[in-house]
Amino acid sequence: MRIKTFEAYQIAYRQSVEDPEGFWAEVAQQFQWRKPWKKVLSWNFNEANVKWFEGGVLNITENALDRHLAQIGNQPAIIWEPNDPEDKAVSISYNVLHDRVCRFANVLKKHGVKKGDRVCIYLPMVPELTVAVLACARIGAIHSVVFGGFSAKSIADRINDAECNMVITSDGAYRGSKVIPMKETVDAALDQCRSVKHVIVMTRTRTPVSMLKGRDLWWEEEVKHVDSVCAAEPMDAEDPLFILYTSGSTGKPKGVVHTCGGYMVYAAYTFANVFQYEPEEVYFCTADIGWITGHSYIVYGPLCTGATSLIFEGVPTYPDASRLWQIVEKHQVNILYTAPTAIRSLMSFGLDYVKGHDLSSLKKLGSVGEPINEEAWHWFKTNIGSDNCPLADTWWQTETGGIMISPLAGITHEKPTFATLPLPGIQPVIVDENGKEIEGNGVSGNLCMKFPWPGIIRTTYGDHERCKQTYFSTYPGMYFTGDGCLRDEDGYYRITGRVDDVLNVSGHRIGTAEVENAINMHLGVVESAVVGYTHDIKGQGIYAYVIAESEPEDAEMFRKDIAATVSRIIGPIAKPDKVQFVTGLPKTRSGKIMRRILRKISEGDMGNLGDISTLLDPAVVEDIKRGAL
Ligand code: PRX
Repeated sequence: MRIKTFEAYQIAYRQSVEDPEGFWAEVAQQFQWRKPWKKVLSWNFNEANVKWFEGGVLNITENALDRHLAQIGNQPAIIWEPNDPEDKAVSISYNVLHDRVCRFANVLKKHGVKKGDRVCIYLPMVPELTVAVLACARIGAIHSVVFGGFSAKSIADRINDAECNMVITSDGAYRGSKVIPMKETVDAALDQCRSVKHVIVMTRTRTPVSMLKGRDLWWEEEVKHVDSVCAAEPMDAEDPLFILYTSGSTGKPKGVVHTCGGYMVYAAYTFANVFQYEPEEVYFCTADIGWITGHSYIVYGPLCTGATSLIFEGVPTYPDASRLWQIVEKHQVNILYTAPTAIRSLMSFGLDYVKGHDLSSLKKLGSVGEPINEEAWHWFKTNIGSDNCPLADTWWQTETGGIMISPLAGITHEKPTFATLPLPGIQPVIVDENGKEIEGNGVSGNLCMKFPWPGIIRTTYGDHERCKQTYFSTYPGMYFTGDGCLRDEDGYYRITGRVDDVLNVSGHRIGTAEVENAINMHLGVVESAVVGYTHDIKGQGIYAYVIAESEPEDAEMFRKDIAATVSRIIGPIAKPDKVQFVTGLPKTRSGKIMRRILRKISEGDMGNLGDISTLLDPAVVEDIKRGAL
């Protein structure tokens, strides 16, 4: 299962293509199953149907926890670094984590949560978040973690879509110098949700909260009155493990569903191999558990590998821009997995924040979430990795469950800005607009997958048709990633970014349609169009073209109102960076907005706007150009 040389990678890759079932069966055997599977794989991309390890029975928490207790029960499973560096860090062994997960699982059961029920988790980056996630998995409840930066309305939409009957939250959250009222936001969300029977509230900030009799429960009280034994629920390999909402080009965010068996095998296999994890290494992923990176590479992948996973509550710039380096030094971190946006932001503060910190414990680096530019790649490699740590630029998506294209740290030859080669089991193809495969090297186009892997999305919750439409209909017979890429002369892949209407702002995935809908909800807005533009730190910034009801008297104030509206409807992460008021939008005769033109203008690239002859009113383009920000 562990690949140690490039030759071994090549052999594994070949085997995974020639005999995928044999290959994955061998990998899956390393895990603990209650009952073996009957069939390794059945699939039909035309119907968006994929099943792995059918008939197999397991519980992922037995693999993440119980399996390790005899050997490494006292080893830290989690090291928690709080927001304030003056507060004490906490180390939680596998034994203790097991105990806490079982207790909390019993709390969930006591309050009526059963296998198959959906539980919404809205918590800061505290150990209880991992406990809550694993406790759901322990009893077969489907967790739906919502990132702490989302608004009450976003939480309500997600709770209603999945019909959650339980919410787990905290009184508040510390984030840098801010205290964020979590429970208050949940309360506002719950005004619009009928399915929720109970809310469990963990104490973090001692922010005053209103606890509703009969509905709300204190975490700390509840865990006192339950047993620490909780047998793991036997789960079919294809039973859902979790739902995670993510943005697409149209409509509301959709609930990506991952299932127990395939996801576990894929998350753990990729974790162990990409990061070449060695026993006792301290691994630090800076993502939030509210995103897929946190699910797969803070919780499930590392814990199913018996790793020590560091969880950081705060932000890289608090109290100052040296915080990550302080953490690396303090906890002797060996593997650091972060995002290009964080690297670029820390780069902008200068090297003084890095100097003076002993980073010699670092052995391996990783990057995820967006294309990494060459400057950031070198800065990270040289100044953080002292030029002797491999750097894995890992490309993947919420829908893929785990890393798809990436170097194996220290094994695959690296090239700056390239995600390099597909992992074993991954069969990428590049297609042109007509879906024709472009073979050979030195080519570019749209990135698809022609064969399933165990971590692939199974459905979009409650709407399988949407899954089929979004991922499997653009290019029939293939999974379409939504990304563009090139394959160079050596067969190395470089991901160039989304080719659809999805933005990647500081590594956060945001649909332009979602932002437009939010802006349009503001009184006084007639219509809007949103595009992404190149942003030095965030990767992409949000540029909104807005038609106002009447010319705003105070444009600056109106911009702030629009930002506040987007914050309230989606969350602060989706606030536009620039708002330009326009009198019209470049539409074709059939009413479609030509975003291509708006994108060029937002980049300041006014010269060659391409063919605008199909526009209903080409004159609007001149107006927009004149008012460009
Ligand atoms: O455009 C790609 C970009 O992030 C998208 C997936 O976003 P999300 O589902 O939120 O998952 C992010 C974490 C896995 C992709 O379609 N992306 C992710 N990693 C990379 C990347 N783009 C270039 N290089 C990467 N390493």
